[in-house]
Amino acid sequence: MLSRGRTGCHACHELRPNEDIVSDVAISYTVHVFAVAGSLRKDSWNMKLLRAAIELVPPGMMIHQFDGLSDIPPYNADLDVDPRPEPVRALKQMLAACDGLLIATPEYNYGIPGVLKNAIDWASRPAATSPLLGKVALLMGASTGMVGTARAQQQLRQNFVFTRTTVLPTPEILVAKAPEKFDAEGRLADETARELIKERLQTLGEWVYKLRAR
Ligand code: FNR
Repeated sequence: MLSRGRTGCHACHELRPNEDIVSDVAISYTVHVFAVAGSLRKDSWNMKLLRAAIELVPPGMMIHQFDGLSDIPPYNADLDVDPRPEPVRALKQMLAACDGLLIATPEYNYGIPGVLKNAIDWASRPAATSPLLGKVALLMGASTGMVGTARAQQQLRQNFVFTRTTVLPTPEILVAKAPEKFDAEGRLADETARELIKERLQTLGEWVYKLRAR
């Protein structure tokens, strides 16, 4: 359950208490999802995609957007000791307080942006107590190109093998040709993508529930 007093939560969206995230099983708790967009750009498509997910959050789920990516220093094992840099502590604290992850990644040179990989590296250590351990993650991404971040997401999946983070399988949320999918206000206008995000968030909640119940 989410601890109070966390930092870095930029946009928490609570809907009504959860009874219907898994249609056949009543769940008595809210699923808390840590969300981050791997772009620092003000007008980022991935930030807009994350905003769409926040808008489409199913009942019983809260999405907590982490906005401290640019404050996290480059990973340095010499600094990875108590007390860690404050932005790293904020990241790990927020991750630890959440049940699931939602990552909107750009694709940079067929991979994920350095700032995102850097945050994952910090969060992954020490491995035995990493807040990534045992979490469920939903990936998505938007790019201006034709492939919609498929290669970046593949790399992210590979990273999460080592952190023992379970990534939802297909269908993948790949928003290609992003400028055609958002309206002038930056709202995701593509109905197919919106429906997919809605369904995938629902599935994320179900997986969190199932893995917790084991
Ligand atoms: C890109 N872009 C890009 N697109 C793609 O489909 N495959 C790629 O490998 C790359 N590589 C790449 C490298 C670098 C350094 C930059 C800056 C850009 C284009 C990229 O998808 C586009 O700029 C997106 O708009 C970036 O995401 P945000 O910032 O809009 O969220």
